[in-house]
Amino acid sequence: MDIPWWRDAVVYEIYVRSFADASGDGVGDLAGVRQRLPYLKRLGVDAVWLTPFYPSPMADGGYDVADYRGVDPLFGSLDDFDDLVAEAHGLGLRVMVDVVPNHSSDQHPWFQAALRGEGRDRYIFRDTTNNWQSTFSGPAWTQAPDGQYYLHLFAPGQPDFNWRNPEVHEEFLDVLRFWLDRGVDGFRIDVAMGLYKAEGLPDVSDQSFKAASPVWGQPEVHGVYRDWRRLLDSYPGERMAVGEVWTDSLDDLALYVRPDELQQSFNFAWLQAPWSPTAFKQVIDDTLGAVPYATWVLSNHDVVRHRTRYGTADPGTGLARARAALLTTLALPGSAYLYQGEELGLPEVTDLPAEARQDPVFFQSEGKLPGRDGCRVPIPWTVDAPSYGFSPDSVEPWLPQPASFAELSVEKQEGDADSTLEFYRRALARRRELVEEIPYTLEWLDSPEGALFFTRGPLICAVNCGTHPVRLPDHDEVILASGPVKGGLLPADTAAWLRRAG
Ligand code: NOJ
Repeated sequence: MDIPWWRDAVVYEIYVRSFADASGDGVGDLAGVRQRLPYLKRLGVDAVWLTPFYPSPMADGGYDVADYRGVDPLFGSLDDFDDLVAEAHGLGLRVMVDVVPNHSSDQHPWFQAALRGEGRDRYIFRDTTNNWQSTFSGPAWTQAPDGQYYLHLFAPGQPDFNWRNPEVHEEFLDVLRFWLDRGVDGFRIDVAMGLYKAEGLPDVSDQSFKAASPVWGQPEVHGVYRDWRRLLDSYPGERMAVGEVWTDSLDDLALYVRPDELQQSFNFAWLQAPWSPTAFKQVIDDTLGAVPYATWVLSNHDVVRHRTRYGTADPGTGLARARAALLTTLALPGSAYLYQGEELGLPEVTDLPAEARQDPVFFQSEGKLPGRDGCRVPIPWTVDAPSYGFSPDSVEPWLPQPASFAELSVEKQEGDADSTLEFYRRALARRRELVEEIPYTLEWLDSPEGALFFTRGPLICAVNCGTHPVRLPDHDEVILASGPVKGGLLPADTAAWLRRAG
């Protein structure tokens, strides 16, 4: 069987607002991404995923889309997008874009018409509310000027579509065609387990991501993905989609990646696992047992960066663990999604002042939740320039960067063999070679306490989550290690790739 490109792909998530600003307004843009494509090629990824760059009032950083077929002037133009795709393809990089089908912006022409009483059935309006809460805190209902309430599972500026209306289906098939015709290789589907809500919108006792919840994961949603899969398959070049599916079980996740549905789904169990060999082993076994093709992700624009998540009081520990987690992730069967800045070892910025914060989570929770700005701080490219080279001029970036970003900048790390950036480059280059020779399957090896050893053909991956060094299994060669490996010992918070003996 021919192996589809996405099966083992390493995809790099670009949070466009925070990657690189070419226009000099303090906000990242498509031209900025295009200028940095050679950096991504050199890093060694296979594809990029661009977060929403569509016209939007930015009530939720662009996940509130006012026009699904355009580019917000903040990010550039459709020409900029076409240039970016052409240049990425020229470099051998694939391009994935975000599609946001659960809700639109309240500025979308359909919602504006709905407020005037036209086509209200494209959204969910009711005379009375139920007890559903917004994922961002507070009630999931806002009153329209005429007295009816509309449902929004996220911000009030993100009204949920009514997927029981066939017009919504037609619209999204057309949106997908629009971007497929422009050459995109795939889609990341926002809130893919949303879309349908249970008939009658019954009250809930628990709104977390449960299979049986009236809010999420209704069986009808699978019909949508079957239609989308047929559309993707009608285009040449293995176009694909990955779902943002939050579920409480991997068996529920597996429903989204049945052979006639999405090719991939994010596996958030991996990023939710604590720094523990038993937790890691459990997630790996459950994932490989549940889905035909796995994906692995440690960080994204919605969660605390993993360096900080794994960190203890000592920031060095967090970085050591983050590097070890990368080697472990890249050794697993399936594809890996990286989040911009993790290759620099960026931590979560935890001390953003309240007046700098932008995430609706912070405002809707009345400051009780910090929100997600801390993982969205603009990337440091250079050591000395204002905004560390994120913007060309001395303009303030849309979120302030801490002084510690200078030492973590690309310029500082480039060429320093001990840096996290050079470590990522080596890991991705070695993975590219290894993927050719290792089977998709994984076998466990006996591991000492605190550690986890597994093998895939000639490769062994060993990770030590414990507090003491452990003896490495028999091997012919240390291919790569995330920290110092001496005398056949693997230190704490370190991982290594080994070539199996014999
Ligand atoms: C998931 C996105 O990743 C997140 O950033 C956004 O706030 C919600 N979906 C709502 O669109």
